[in-house]
Amino acid sequence: MQTVDIRTQWEGAAPGWARWEATIATWMEPATEAMLAMAGVDAGTRVLDLASGAGSQTLRAAQRVGAQGHVVASDIADTMLHHVQENARAAGLTHVTTLAGAAEDLDVVAESFDAVICRLGLMLFRDPAKALRAVRRALRPRGKVAVVVFTTPATNPFMAQPMQTLLRHAGKTPPAPGQPGIFALGAPGVLERLLADSGFVDVEQCSVALALRMPSAAQALVMMQEAFGAYRAVVSDCPESVRVAAWAEVAETLRTFETATGFVAPPEVLVAAGVKPA
Ligand SMILES: C[S@@+](CC[C@H](N)C(=O)[O-])C[C@H]1O[C@@H](n2cnc3c(N)ncnc32)[C@H](O)[C@@H]1O
Repeated sequence: MQTVDIRTQWEGAAPGWARWEATIATWMEPATEAMLAMAGVDAGTRVLDLASGAGSQTLRAAQRVGAQGHVVASDIADTMLHHVQENARAAGLTHVTTLAGAAEDLDVVAESFDAVICRLGLMLFRDPAKALRAVRRALRPRGKVAVVVFTTPATNPFMAQPMQTLLRHAGKTPPAPGQPGIFALGAPGVLERLLADSGFVDVEQCSVALALRMPSAAQALVMMQEAFGAYRAVVSDCPESVRVAAWAEVAETLRTFETATGFVAPPEVLVAAGVKPA
């Protein structure tokens, strides 16, 4: 997919992502805290948040760094950054700024950041290695990068099964190895190797089990339809009848995650970090 298509895909998903921001923030909280800790985000830190989306993790970083620090939220979709600006203003966080553009084309002053974070973005990039080289340039020596990606289809059935369904209805195949996709960097060793090959040292990682709790499977379906850009993109060019049939089958799958207390899915993510050599 070309950069311009990726931008269009995420511009379309941005209002939905912003609408579901609170649910996503709660869902991702343990991974977000691990990512911020592993990136060394503390009082006074200068942080770059790549693929920030509507910015819930940007704001957590801004709270941690305080007024002596600074957080730049960067994303390929302008509408996402508009939401970051609004959310930062509403939270009274004046040390948050935004930068539009693809991570692969990141254009910032060399060595101007202490930490770079990227939650649920890197696996979707057309060229994650190029983005990580740009991150390395942006970091000061001994600065840290920390990222969150989904692990594997087997440990994320709530994410994997609907994606398989949408692909089948659309007559498309899953991304080939090495191509962008929600599970592109989740297999054992892939992310560690990518960070090491991109020039980072002291690479460490941990898996974090999460729980996505929502009142009902119907709500989970609406979130997926409105916010999940990669899912929307699979059927976006299909006839209406195909889209309706595909989402109806996804709805059935999501109902299998319903319990007596509502919808509960057990996603798993990987949090990995590396250090720019001195
Ligand atoms: C799954 S969302 C995650 C957003 C946010 N980090 C979060 O966790 O809430 C993926 C984000 O990556 C952005 N994105 C996709 N490809 C990108 C690229 N090549 N460069 C920069 N941002 C990109 C999208 O616009 C979207 O905001």
